[in-house]
Order: sequence, then C-alpha cells, then structure tokens
Amino acid sequence: MRVRPWSPLADLLSDDALEASSVVANRAMNRDRRLAGRDGYSRVLGFDVLGLPPSARWLDLCCGSGRALLDAAEARPDLDITGVDLVGCFAAPGPVRLVTASITAWEPAGRFDLVTCVHGLHYVGDKLGALLRAASWLADDGVFVANFDVDGIDAPGGARRVLRALREAGFAYDPRTHRIRRHGRFDGSLPFRYLGADDRAGPNYTGQPAVRSCYGSAL
Ligand SMILES: C[S@@+](CC[C@H](N)C(=O)[O-])C[C@H]1O[C@@H](n2cnc3c(N)ncnc32)[C@H](O)[C@@H]1O
Repeated sequence: MRVRPWSPLADLLSDDALEASSVVANRAMNRDRRLAGRDGYSRVLGFDVLGLPPSARWLDLCCGSGRALLDAAEARPDLDITGVDLVGCFAAPGPVRLVTASITAWEPAGRFDLVTCVHGLHYVGDKLGALLRAASWLADDGVFVANFDVDGIDAPGGARRVLRALREAGFAYDPRTHRIRRHGRFDGSLPFRYLGADDRAGPNYTGQPAVRSCYGSAL
C-alpha cells in the first residue's frame, strides 16, 4: 500500500509494502560476504570480530546468507553468534542462530557485546529507528558498527540536523567510510518521526538501488 502522508512529491511505502518491493526483496543483491578478504566484514566494518573477548555475544543485522557468521564461528567457537535477515536464504546451518525476521520488529533475548549491520540499513525503511533499536540491544560496554548513508534520510533540517541529533545521541558517523558507530547501550530517542519509505530513490554510494527514509519532526 502506498500512502501520501505529507508530500505530493513522494508516495511513501509502509513496512509491508517496502519488504515486498523489488529493491528489498531482490534476489540478486550480495548476501554472501565472508568475514575476511577485500570485501569481507572485517574490512567493510573496520572492526576485527575475531578480536572479541572470550564467549562474547555478536548480533549481525541483515546478515544475508550468514556466511561471515559461520566463518567467525569456525575460527572462534566460543562466540555466541546470532544473525537476523528478512529473507531466510541462509547458508547450510552451523553453530550460529539464524533468524528470519525484519529488524524493525524482531526483539532479541538479552544484550550483545557487538551489534553489526553490513550494507543492510540501505534497504530498511525506518533507518533511524533501527539505529536506536540496535543501540538499545548493546551491553553497557558493547559496540555497534554499521554501514550507513546519511543521504538516504529525508528529514527536516537535512543531513546536518540528522547528524547533529545522532552525534548528541552518541553515534559517531564517518562520511568518508559511511560507517556509523556507538560505544555502549543507549535507550534514548531522536527528534524525528518516521513517515515512510521511498523505494524509487535510485542507487546510493554503493551503486545499488537503495531505500530513502522519510521523517518529520517528532511531535
Ligand atoms: C546487501 S545484503 C547484505 C547481506 C550481508 N550483510 C552481507 O554483507 O553479505 C542486505 C540484506 O539486508 C536484508 N534486509 C533488508 N531489509 C531488512 C529488514 N527490514 N530486516 C532484516 N533484513 C533486511 C536483505 O534481505 C539482505 O539480505
């Protein structure tokens, strides 16, 4: 269903419609990243997952096939690893928990030492809500790191206001690497209200078609 809550310029999609859209339910997108290598998780995130402390809990959002998680489990069998993806096209089962769900609705049991999202937020409707959810799932000393494109957000005050609000909430964004990061759990809010998504925004910095997320000011 397309709804027109505020702008005659954009037909905004509800979550259900977005998840059925060809931009998100796209069989051709790369869901098979490994942990190591030039395009692997460690490099893309700038974070060494294998350096986590013993028995750490790692949650990967929009995990695709989960291959990077299986790589990590093989190298570090002590880690407790969970992956969540909307499309359950997971690699052969291994010693990781792989859940078919939307990260906008799923609720975890417990907290995590590391929460990641590799090139997944580009396809999520409420990206700012997803950032808040991820940060609320961190252990007090946990780390969140994800690929994020601030240009995929349409909000009053533009990217400057979004980045200022994120900074005030303790998120650090690097526009060069398009990475967003937070250290420690956060249960606060941002001054925006999600309105809906536009799946016709075209390619983002990755070169792939991405979803534009539209916000108004919080009431
Ligand atoms: C480009 S793929 C990246 C997959 C994996 N992180 C990798 O790097 O190999 C993006 C993934 O996001 C997933 N995705 C999109 N929207 C989602 C949502 N709302 N909840 C969970 N997963 C979602 C897609 O199904 C897809 O597997």
